[in-house]
Amino acid sequence: MSATVSLQQLTDQLDQLEAQAAAAIAAAASAADLEELRVGLLGKKGKLSGVLGAMGKLPGEERPLVGQRANVLKEQVQGLLAERLAWVKSAALAERIAAESLDVTMPASTIPAGHRHPLISTIEEIVDIFAGLGYRVEEGPEIETDHYNFTALNIPPHHPARDMQDTFYLSEHELLRTHTSPVQIRHLENNPPPVRIVAPGRVYRRDAVDATHSPVFHQVEVLAIDEGLDFSHLRGTVTAFLQQFFGDLPVRFRASYFPFTEPSAEVDVQWRGRWLEVMGCGMVDPAVLEGLGIDPTRYSGFAAGLGVERFCMVRHGIDDIRRLFTSDLRFLEQF
Ligand code: DAH
Repeated sequence: MSATVSLQQLTDQLDQLEAQAAAAIAAAASAADLEELRVGLLGKKGKLSGVLGAMGKLPGEERPLVGQRANVLKEQVQGLLAERLAWVKSAALAERIAAESLDVTMPASTIPAGHRHPLISTIEEIVDIFAGLGYRVEEGPEIETDHYNFTALNIPPHHPARDMQDTFYLSEHELLRTHTSPVQIRHLENNPPPVRIVAPGRVYRRDAVDATHSPVFHQVEVLAIDEGLDFSHLRGTVTAFLQQFFGDLPVRFRASYFPFTEPSAEVDVQWRGRWLEVMGCGMVDPAVLEGLGIDPTRYSGFAAGLGVERFCMVRHGIDDIRRLFTSDLRFLEQF
């Protein structure tokens, strides 16, 4: 180990140290790097301490020169470290802001919007057309008594329409309504003629499930009672409605029978080369009016029951009724 050190050597070392420190600090990329440099340069066992240790070997009058130079260097290095630390921190902040900021021009992630079920929009369309003809909307309960569902509609006990085979009975006198016709009775009980109503709703029958039958389906009931109504009003109303709903599909009235209408008819529209029944209708049977205390020599009227699923299937070209009840979004999204 060399015992002598010259002033020149130590000043050279300090010059070198200054250059090295400036370069290393300028290249430091993080606060941790800078701390490591600080310890290596200014710490107790750092490079500057090394130079100061050697200073003791200089002649006494030369020591202050080195000491002053070393102090200046120390302050310089501290300044550079602080400056670089501030720069590193602001660079890190800028990077974080860039990474975390929102790009407001990105396409939004959306919750897909739902829409009306095709059966509901069919009901709304039917009801809208009748509303335009001056009809009011009425509703009735889905759990009915045999009185409203059958007796008051001129369907006596033991009539085959009451058969256990096709009716859901809840108790001896309660059942899931098999049609919307009971709303006629409920409305007329509380509203004297003249009356014009439509009553949409669910109805239930113990049908086997196939492409054209479902145990739950929908009807819209139509009822008009006034003085002087006859079959031409029924025919005109139904025809005007069908034309508005379907456009120019061929329509035919077929003689039929319902206990609560006389005469009665079924209405078919021609679709895909065959006749498809879309409603039953007729002139309200005088016995039904009498049962409600309405004078059938003064008032007459007509009624109809529309099969909503049929209207929906024809409108949208759907061939299987089950599609309307399975909630398959791939199917429903098409409407
Ligand atoms: N209620 C009957 C059914 O569900 C349909 C019906 C026929 C309703 C004739 C009526 C009508 O209002 O006049 O089969």
